[in-house]
Amino acid sequence: MLVIRNLTKQFYQRNEEITVVDNLSLTVKKGQVFGLIGPNGAGKTTTVKLVAGLLFPGKGKISIGGFPAGTLEAKRKIGFMNENPQFYYHLKAREVMEFVADLFEIEKTVATKKIDVLLKEVGLKDAKELAVRKFSKGMHQRLAFAVAQINNPELLILDEPLDGLDPLGRLDFKQMILKLKKSGATIFFSSHILSDVEEICDEVAILHKGKIIAQGSPKDLVKSSKQSLEELFVRSIRNA
Ligand SMILES: Nc1ncnc2c1ncn2[C@@H]1O[C@H](COP(=O)(O)OP(=O)(O)OP(=O)(O)O)[C@@H](O)[C@H]1O
Ligand SMILES: [Mg+2]
Repeated sequence: MLVIRNLTKQFYQRNEEITVVDNLSLTVKKGQVFGLIGPNGAGKTTTVKLVAGLLFPGKGKISIGGFPAGTLEAKRKIGFMNENPQFYYHLKAREVMEFVADLFEIEKTVATKKIDVLLKEVGLKDAKELAVRKFSKGMHQRLAFAVAQINNPELLILDEPLDGLDPLGRLDFKQMILKLKKSGATIFFSSHILSDVEEICDEVAILHKGKIIAQGSPKDLVKSSKQSLEELFVRSIRNA
């Protein structure tokens, strides 16, 4: 579903070129939940934005269901949730959803039904007519998760989706991610909450300074390294 080959991205900081994503390659199979984990500044958000087509690679290729990232065909297949979701503050939750549904040219009656289902699913049924400026952080996350699903995406790209959620919210989100997987969707998400990743991912990659330094199913990684995922995470980063 998602193939990344030799992806490299450089940025300029104070007139100096820094490599943020460094020759990264990975494959996410259809129906997988794939977790990209790494410390602050590892390059997770940059990678996720490249996949979503919001940034363009310096080098390398990204293909989504056979289409290059950033093309309209690829964008139609994805749902994207930003790291710090922000919306037009004067809009109500329903209006935000309608706005995005419109961008995807979803027919009005279909959109209305879908919006109701999604807002209920993410726990915002009672906030449907509430302006986004009155939302808490967790409510923003929930709305962003609903927005990301409006077009029934084949690939969900989520940047720290569990960030800022309380334990109940985290549990809800994990269940929703697994439900999406069950319905055939593929999920590519970044996180630094290792326990969450361990619970729901089929495969994880540890990213450090833009490079993958370990990859595999959480079970296999734990088994082969004889360490918990947290120990493996800390050790591989310290030794890299
Ligand atoms: N637009 C930009 N211009 C210059 N440097 C940038 C830009 N965006 C990101 N960077 C740099 O790229 C590096 C990786 O940033 P990125 O946001 O991808 O990390 P991250 O793994 O998502 O971190 P976090 O866990 O804190 O969200 C950082 O050193 C950051 O300063
Ligand atoms: Mg980030």
